[in-house]
Amino acid sequence: MPLLELDGVRSGYGRVEILHEISLSVPEGAVVAVLGPNGVGKTTLLRVISGTLPVWEGAVRFDGRAINRLSAYQRARRGITLIPEGRGVFPGLSVDENLAIAARASDADAAWRDERLDDVKKTFPRLAERALQRAGTLSGGEQQMLALSRAFLANPRLLLLDEISMGLAPIIVEELFANVSRLKREGHTIVLVEQYLTYALELADICYVMSKGQVAFCGEPAELRSGDALAGSYFGGS
Ligand SMILES: Nc1ncnc2c1ncn2[C@@H]1O[C@H](COP(=O)(O)OP(=O)(O)O)[C@@H](O)[C@H]1O
Ligand SMILES: [Mg+2]
Repeated sequence: MPLLELDGVRSGYGRVEILHEISLSVPEGAVVAVLGPNGVGKTTLLRVISGTLPVWEGAVRFDGRAINRLSAYQRARRGITLIPEGRGVFPGLSVDENLAIAARASDADAAWRDERLDDVKKTFPRLAERALQRAGTLSGGEQQMLALSRAFLANPRLLLLDEISMGLAPIIVEELFANVSRLKREGHTIVLVEQYLTYALELADICYVMSKGQVAFCGEPAELRSGDALAGSYFGGS
């Protein structure tokens, strides 16, 4: 049984349908990449999974149970963590406060959280140096590292990452992905929305390519690299 399953999901904004019967399956422990050009509905899809946007039709199942009716808060309590597009941090709070809130959201025990907090500070020394600085005044890369650290601390069952590389220098992107890779090695289940194909294809076990609110391709990264599925649906083909 997959950890997350979408079955014929339709959703959108106002009366405008953006997602047209999306079906998708995320096995426990897998990294699933969702690819596709701007505007095809990737962020909308993550909103539907995290519960900030209602499902019109179809089912979202987590751990075998329908969660359509659960609020975003209830889903977060069950371990669905979204790092939204733009930075997933509280800009007005300090680095330390941001981390503390994330640690409190997890159901792990205090010893685990302390160890994890130590770990985060070793992994991202730049964050440790800026413990008292307001998150909103960090550079883009630092904010994204803080967002990832918060995910580390929240110990999510399902981590949803929305274009964490957006607008960042390649060297920072590399550092971020090294940490996503670590989350994967630790067995976390991740849905990765990305424009940076190189990293996404390297990390992903399964890829979905979206086109105009539908799934245009689903398969292993190797199939995408070799075939023309990507060229056809990704680079503006029909
Ligand atoms: N809050 C919103 N209200 C109305 N339309 C929206 C909203 N957010 C996104 N859209 C529209 O939904 C479509 C898909 O957007 P989005 O999911 O952000 O795409 P992607 O993340 O793939 O770039 C776009 O046409 C966009 O204009
Ligand atoms: Mg988006």
